[in-house]
Amino acid sequence: MSGCQIDKNVIRPIRFFNGACQMLDQRRLPTEEIWINYTDYQGVAEAIRSMVVRGAPAIGVAAAIGTWFGARDIETESSEVFFVELEKVCEVLAATRPTAVNLFWALERMKSFAHANLDRSVLELKIGLEYEALAITQEDEQLCIKLGRHGAGLIPDGARVLTHCNAGALATAGYGTALGVLRAAVASGKKISVLADETRPFMQGARLTAWELQKDNIPVTLICDNMAGYLMSKGEIDCVIVGADRIASNGDVANKIGTYTVAVLAREHNLPFYVAAPLSTLDMSLTDGSQIPIEERDAREITHVGDIQLAPSGVPVRNPAFDVTPARFVTAIITEAGVVEGDYSQGLAALFNK
Ligand code: MRU
Repeated sequence: MSGCQIDKNVIRPIRFFNGACQMLDQRRLPTEEIWINYTDYQGVAEAIRSMVVRGAPAIGVAAAIGTWFGARDIETESSEVFFVELEKVCEVLAATRPTAVNLFWALERMKSFAHANLDRSVLELKIGLEYEALAITQEDEQLCIKLGRHGAGLIPDGARVLTHCNAGALATAGYGTALGVLRAAVASGKKISVLADETRPFMQGARLTAWELQKDNIPVTLICDNMAGYLMSKGEIDCVIVGADRIASNGDVANKIGTYTVAVLAREHNLPFYVAAPLSTLDMSLTDGSQIPIEERDAREITHVGDIQLAPSGVPVRNPAFDVTPARFVTAIITEAGVVEGDYSQGLAALFNK
């Protein structure tokens, strides 16, 4: 994608030029828009680990780019040796974050491409892996647009929609999953407004969702996570839509910590609870959500805000970054291949045959 045109009005958290990539540092938003250059896989791995780039699909895209960078730097003439070294690159990238399956999906796709072409020269493999990484990036934005169109019909005109975390353009190559559905609803002429949970402790809702919806002129109101129940009880929320980091074959959904709480509240108030995610977020190898690895992050995310200490030194802390919402709380799962409701075990599997 070297030399491609950058449309400044479209939010894309990763961009390319001259064989390098730049990522919008999502830790610094909304107050600073800083782009960091990456040219090697170690840098990309650190960007994923430290959450310069975050959100399941964007992590997958970054992993593919990291694999391309790693492949480019392997020095050998032998395709077999090249593949062994490529696997080592993928291992480093795989060790960055455990929950979003898109990371592993992208690494598998890159490795499968190389494995299927081992009869080619190392130079051809390197070029092919570059194309594969760029294809994964472009496909991700396109599928979000498709997914958005599938989901837009579920959002009523005038709806006040609650979302949790950031499942927007910033969490993908562009357009977004949950926020992609809302963008598509707006594009179809519906007047909607969004309530964004701030999403403690990393504040993706306050910092990222509020920023990107404001930028797109989609009405957004920020609330603390613990206000959702009250607003539902007052009739001020019509439906909920979130993204996902991994969906088991039975429809159990791992997403940002707090999602389960919102889903239970939605059920209590008879509100639809929608999940929007690409097929690359489905992990059909897992029978249910109890098998999804949940990342535990640094205690400092809870005890501090920036340099300000909120909690007494030494207090024990738990910081699971994700939770699992059982399928029974999910009204529908929206993907680029269509919408599944009801029997997720059958419905999700059928999506792969469309
Ligand atoms: O820790 P993060 O910011 O990577 O977590 C992101 C989420 O939980 C998103 O809701 C999910 O990845 C869906 S993004 C389209």
